[in-house]
Amino acid sequence: MKREQIRRLFLHFFAVMAACILLTGVKAQAQIPSLKTSIINGSAETDMKGNPINAHGGGFLKIGNYYYLIGENRQKNVLVSCYRSTDLINWEFRGDLLTRSSDSELKNANIERPKVIYNETTKKFVMWMHYELSSDYSYARAAVATSDDIEKPFTWLKSFQPLDNMSRDCNLYKDTDGKAYFISSTRENRDMNLYELTKDYLSIKLKVGTFWVDAQREAPAIMKRGNYYFILTSFCTGWEPNQAKYAWSESLSGPWSGLKDIGSPTSYNSQPTFILPIAGEKTTSYMYVGDRWDPALYSNSRSIYLPLTFENDTTIKMDWVKKVIPNLATGELVTQDEPQHQFRIKSKWSGEYLSLQSNQSSTANVAAYKLGYLKPNLRWEIFPSNNELVRIKHVQTGKYLEAEENNQTRLSDEKKSDLQLWKEIRQKDGWSKLINKATGKALTIERSKNRKAELLYTSDYSKEYDANYDKQGFLLAPVYE
Ligand code: GAL
Repeated sequence: MKREQIRRLFLHFFAVMAACILLTGVKAQAQIPSLKTSIINGSAETDMKGNPINAHGGGFLKIGNYYYLIGENRQKNVLVSCYRSTDLINWEFRGDLLTRSSDSELKNANIERPKVIYNETTKKFVMWMHYELSSDYSYARAAVATSDDIEKPFTWLKSFQPLDNMSRDCNLYKDTDGKAYFISSTRENRDMNLYELTKDYLSIKLKVGTFWVDAQREAPAIMKRGNYYFILTSFCTGWEPNQAKYAWSESLSGPWSGLKDIGSPTSYNSQPTFILPIAGEKTTSYMYVGDRWDPALYSNSRSIYLPLTFENDTTIKMDWVKKVIPNLATGELVTQDEPQHQFRIKSKWSGEYLSLQSNQSSTANVAAYKLGYLKPNLRWEIFPSNNELVRIKHVQTGKYLEAEENNQTRLSDEKKSDLQLWKEIRQKDGWSKLINKATGKALTIERSKNRKAELLYTSDYSKEYDANYDKQGFLLAPVYE
């Protein structure tokens, strides 16, 4: 071998070695994601190994220094999973608590909103949940399982209708005196029943009351602050978010106050699942935890954590914040916000969201489609012009919402034209009507039978919502990401 050949061989060898060392380093780094420093609302949630967190409709439990999160997992054969954290930011997967093979009743089951409490007398962890067969929601049952260890598989006990009542969305509440309660939507989700549990927490002892009759509330979460109990609930719109409301009372048996709005008309795109008290040396904070269900893709569902603030003993507020940093020592919640640039525009009448009609890119008609958080077609930017007028830009195409003289609407390149200017008239309920500057007509949603999406037109502006429901009502909802 010539000297030059030997030199090249050596160089080659070192280059390969260096690449190997580098690659192993990169791989090792990718396997251990660094610790997160805040809860980031709206971002994809991963556990400490970088895997997606599967604990939807979940509940929390504090044991020693650990907060446990237990919730729905719809991966493969799993039903309920358990995570733990020392900071409420970084979560460690600890195990599956219920799977399809835990019991014959679970082979073909749909388990929702599992919640766990600890019974000091029996020394058992007790899980209550909503039980259905996978096919539909007609079973409307509650179910109970127990375990000696919060991180180990639970033993299935039973599914049943509490005192023969239908039971869907549910939650548990353990009071300061050790009594525990189960609450669930009943009578086809028209009312809510609150039940006291037996001392072992395994059965219903009695019905405390039926509340919010005919109000169609679900997704209940109960908390207590000072002398007052609070309950947060949502309206029934399936996976779609809606306006959360709360009520308060000095006793769980009532009388309860009327329902009051809290948060935005879409609850910042979430539905309540739990209220987590965080007790520290300085104060006790209360954190709202909600599910941002993705109706188009369940696995893209996320959790939203927002501090509840109290204006007085019975008035709660919930603002959107991007980041939350819980200080578990003091009990304080530090928050950081970021301005929202993008919006979704929701129709009050159809519940659908404005977008470009998918099969019409040449004429660019505007339509409305069902919600899906990964659909870029549903995003808009809203630019204030002068005199309360706005321009509405479709993010994906960069085109502007424009009215046409024949009452149609379309997306078009930016023009200095009044046809692209809209006046937002805010309604009493927080929704808006959008009046075109050039035509004076209001943006209106119209059902067209042979098309898949609702179409957008303009029609004579009616001050109130007209008899045809709320066809002129739109919500300019920030994406809250
Ligand atoms: C919601 C409910 C969820 C789930 C969903 C199914 O109303 O809160 O837990 O049942 O409907 O559409």
